[in-house]
Amino acid sequence: MTHDQLAIIGIGAAWAGSVGVLGLAVAYAARHRSFRWQIGVVGVTAVLAVVAGVVGTARAMFLSNHDLSVVLWVVVVAGVVAIAVSAIVGMAFAMWSRSIRDDAKRFGDSGHFEARSRGPAELQQISDELAMTAERLRESRAREQRLEESRRELVSWVSHDLRSPLAALRAMTEALEDGLADDPSRYHRQIRAEVDRMVRMVDDLFELSRIHAGVLALNLQPVALGDVVSEALAGADPVARAGGVRLGGRVDDGLFVTADPAELSRVVSNLLMNAIRHTPADGVVEVTGRAVDDGIELSVTDGCGGLSSEDMARVFDVAWQGSAARTPAADDPRTPVAGRGAGLGLAIVKGIVEAHRGRVAVANHDPGCRFVVTLPT
Ligand SMILES: Nc1ncnc2c1ncn2[C@@H]1O[C@H](COP(=O)(O)OP(=O)(O)OP(=O)(O)O)[C@@H](O)[C@H]1O
Ligand SMILES: [Mg+2]
Repeated sequence: MTHDQLAIIGIGAAWAGSVGVLGLAVAYAARHRSFRWQIGVVGVTAVLAVVAGVVGTARAMFLSNHDLSVVLWVVVVAGVVAIAVSAIVGMAFAMWSRSIRDDAKRFGDSGHFEARSRGPAELQQISDELAMTAERLRESRAREQRLEESRRELVSWVSHDLRSPLAALRAMTEALEDGLADDPSRYHRQIRAEVDRMVRMVDDLFELSRIHAGVLALNLQPVALGDVVSEALAGADPVARAGGVRLGGRVDDGLFVTADPAELSRVVSNLLMNAIRHTPADGVVEVTGRAVDDGIELSVTDGCGGLSSEDMARVFDVAWQGSAARTPAADDPRTPVAGRGAGLGLAIVKGIVEAHRGRVAVANHDPGCRFVVTLPT
């Protein structure tokens, strides 16, 4: 490179660089204004940088006066074109961003956002991101609606389920009070049974509200699954015997799981009680426990005759009960004391299992269905 060329580059850099710094300062000052300003500043800076470079080199005698005026005219014309182009691009950009803003506004009003491809990649990314947010929002709204529905259902069923035993209690106590009961001890037993049932229901509701509020304090410790299952089997044995249901199955030796022992036995006994209740006389209920890749698996298999896929999708919902469960045979010993449950058992099972980072599922398994709980060890 010749000495002259080096000098031209140096002079050009100094003059154009000063204009560039000035342009940056103006762009910074206008940073909160419309994007059109930024593009305009870039265009004008580019033109002025060329003008400054040319004037600088002319002053150093590298250009004659005549050449200088020719170059300046060319630069002015080119500058007009550049500024016109930047104005058009700026306008297009403003239009795209306005259209996204309008869509976002509509999204706020209606919850619907349609990702249309428009403008440069960055704007498209914003638009895609908004569309995904809209989708997530829609899903969470639907979830909330389902929850709200099940809560409303729960309140209505609970009030319904409390009203009938309360009415029965009032009738029985009135009969006792008036001395009209011909067999008072039977009334006493029945009153006791109704009260037990209501205590159980209130206890279940309390448990469920703790699960839903996320304040279930787990007292985690190593628990022998075999012990929990045999305790639950012993507790359920009288009910199974009364219903002519055989209890069986086996839990592999030495299976330990980190869990809250009280909550875990609640899970097992809820599943077991359901299984016994839905198994006909002479049927079998089996409980098995084994180690699997990602923890331990506990399964309860019954003889319920299978569940439809709609029922399977709803069994874990709060307050949901199969059609038969709302009108049980009152004298069936397998229905809980004095009547029926409230549809809370499986929702509690699911809540407890998930609080232990486990999962629960149901599938049909001839001649009934099988509930499978998987817990991490
Ligand atoms: N082992 C099972 N076999 C067939 N159906 C079942 C079984 N377990 C539950 N279900 C169905 O799922 C419904 C909900 O069960 P869940 O345990 O939550 O409530 P529930 O047993 O009716 O009342 P609760 O458990 O509160 O006393 C039951 O009403 C029944 O229709
Ligand atoms: Mg139940």
